[in-house]
Amino acid sequence: MTVSIKSAEDIAGMRVAGQLAAELLDYITPFVKPGVTTNELDRLCHDYQVNVQHSIPAPLNYAPGGHTPYPKSICTSVNQQVCHGVPGDRLLKNGDIINIDVTVIKNGWHGDSSRMYCVGNVAPHAKRLCEITWQAMWHGIEQVRPDATLGDVGHAIQVFAEAQGYNIVREFCGHGIGRRFHEEPQVLHYGRPGTGLRLQPGMIFTIEPMINAGKRDIRQMGDGWTIVTKDRSLSAQWEHTIVVTDTGYEVLTVSAATPAPPAFVTDKHASLA
Ligand code: MF3
Ligand code: CO
Ligand code: CO
Repeated sequence: MTVSIKSAEDIAGMRVAGQLAAELLDYITPFVKPGVTTNELDRLCHDYQVNVQHSIPAPLNYAPGGHTPYPKSICTSVNQQVCHGVPGDRLLKNGDIINIDVTVIKNGWHGDSSRMYCVGNVAPHAKRLCEITWQAMWHGIEQVRPDATLGDVGHAIQVFAEAQGYNIVREFCGHGIGRRFHEEPQVLHYGRPGTGLRLQPGMIFTIEPMINAGKRDIRQMGDGWTIVTKDRSLSAQWEHTIVVTDTGYEVLTVSAATPAPPAFVTDKHASLA
């Protein structure tokens, strides 16, 4: 396994791409309302990237081995859709939860991030799934520092999510990212402490747990892309792009409206000061 170490200059490029991904998620937020179609969200994001950001939507025509080219610029995964939901003429309705996953290319560098959005008034159990999944991502992020392992990251996510009664999807994982969309390493969202790749400053990867309210099993829809829960339970996902620093981590996919880290993370950082 060859995991690239990014230079300070590379990281500066990734910071720009990461910020643009986060700003795109900020931009689309007020449009996520009952009655909008996922196609409309796709068109808005595409146009904002091309006309305002001058960034390239990485998903559009992306065709990793064995897949038909992805036909849209963003992924929109609603309710029981786990990931890679393909935008279409589906109308969002009051009570839906939706993950919007964007990946921008700027000056050759990729920034990859996703968030959950609530459409109108969402039931408490669905809101809780979104909230716990966000916290689970952060439990993984806070493990990141030189000499920690990817097993530490996966384990932290898994034990937290399972303690809440949820289940981690195993078939999809985070990934190295840089000049290419998906690079080594694979970042599993489950695992055992002290196992797997040992982290070094300059490694860049995503953490993007997919967590199901029901069983962890999934299946793929006939469109060749959309992944859904087998038992039709709700699923949620959040994603950040992270760089390993000399002392810990830096989140690259940050903008003005990115949700601030949870208290259990900020408290720890405060205690170091
Ligand atoms: N953005 C997704 C990820 O986090 C990948 C989407 S691939 C696509 O890795 F082709 F579906 F866009
Ligand atoms: Co990703
Ligand atoms: Co993504």
